[in-house]
Amino acid sequence: MKICVLPGDGIGPEIMAEAVRVLRALDLKFEMEEALLGGCAVDATGNPYPEATSKLARAADAVLLGAVGGPKWDALPREQRPERGLLGIRKELGLFANLRPAILYPELANASSLKPEIVAGLDILIVRELTGDIYFGQPRGIEVRDGERYGFNTMHYTESEIRRIGRVAFEAARKRDRRLCSVDKMNVLETTQLWRDVMSELAAEYPDVELSHMLVDNAAMQLVRAPKQFDVMVTGNMFGDILSDEASMLTGSIGMLPSASLDENNKGLYEPSHGSAPDIAGKGVANPLATILSAAMMLRYTFAQEEAAQRVEGAVKKVLAQGFRTGDIFEPGTQKVGTREMGDAVLAAL
Ligand code: IPM
Ligand code: MG
Repeated sequence: MKICVLPGDGIGPEIMAEAVRVLRALDLKFEMEEALLGGCAVDATGNPYPEATSKLARAADAVLLGAVGGPKWDALPREQRPERGLLGIRKELGLFANLRPAILYPELANASSLKPEIVAGLDILIVRELTGDIYFGQPRGIEVRDGERYGFNTMHYTESEIRRIGRVAFEAARKRDRRLCSVDKMNVLETTQLWRDVMSELAAEYPDVELSHMLVDNAAMQLVRAPKQFDVMVTGNMFGDILSDEASMLTGSIGMLPSASLDENNKGLYEPSHGSAPDIAGKGVANPLATILSAAMMLRYTFAQEEAAQRVEGAVKKVLAQGFRTGDIFEPGTQKVGTREMGDAVLAAL
């Protein structure tokens, strides 16, 4: 079980240290090797996704990532920005299926900005296509045309790209409440008319799953109006980027949410859904639970170690029940702890 560990930037190294400690505490034999991705890689090599990292990531069974980016690298040309490293590794490893669960832990119900009765028991899975769409479409650029600047991007999907992410979503729904909502903008965009058509065709292969369709603007509204109507949502790269941030906030803290990005053989990249939080980097206060839960997803999806995955998830639930909270989920009456102490608490619970 070879893991490529990419701590990244900002709070990345701090939260990753705790996830690595948790993995080491399991009775499993991992080989872990670290490499650079993002801003730290730009500083060291000039490239956000250096060849050495690519080599290690390709040879590994799974990649565990902290977070990338920060204001320090904002002014760099586009191809050197840390985000380009993230997009590069997703594309090169063919990680087309991004699974982003939004689960509300009962102990954290007050952390949500929505009323407890709207979000209590919330458990949504967003399946986001990750290697296509307007994110990667050509042509793209900013040019001068007819004496003024002109910016353009291209949205496109092939039916095979839509079908393979559709299958992942239908299969996921099968293991849950068997309801799948496909999100598009077919009233305006042809690409997403094709998306809807292909999803409807696929539904014939999954008669046990109830498929519905929703326009993306309505989906954004429904997520804050009545989020519990959703079980699994499937959508393209850009809509999925936006809706998954929205869904994560229903749960009160993005600091709790893991994610998995999988290829066709369950090789995966696992990372917290949150960013590098440069404002609190180096202070030892970041919440390591999303990274620890991402490691649990890795145990489940890439290594088929369901029991170990549940042990880690159980330990996280236990520390919440014990009242340990990092700053992002703190409320009066609970015990505020830092990154390392939260890791200690998870290890003790394990
Ligand atoms: C995400 C992030 C990335 C994305 C950025 C950092 C390129 O927002 O993983 O959701 O847009 O995919
Ligand atoms: Mg995003």
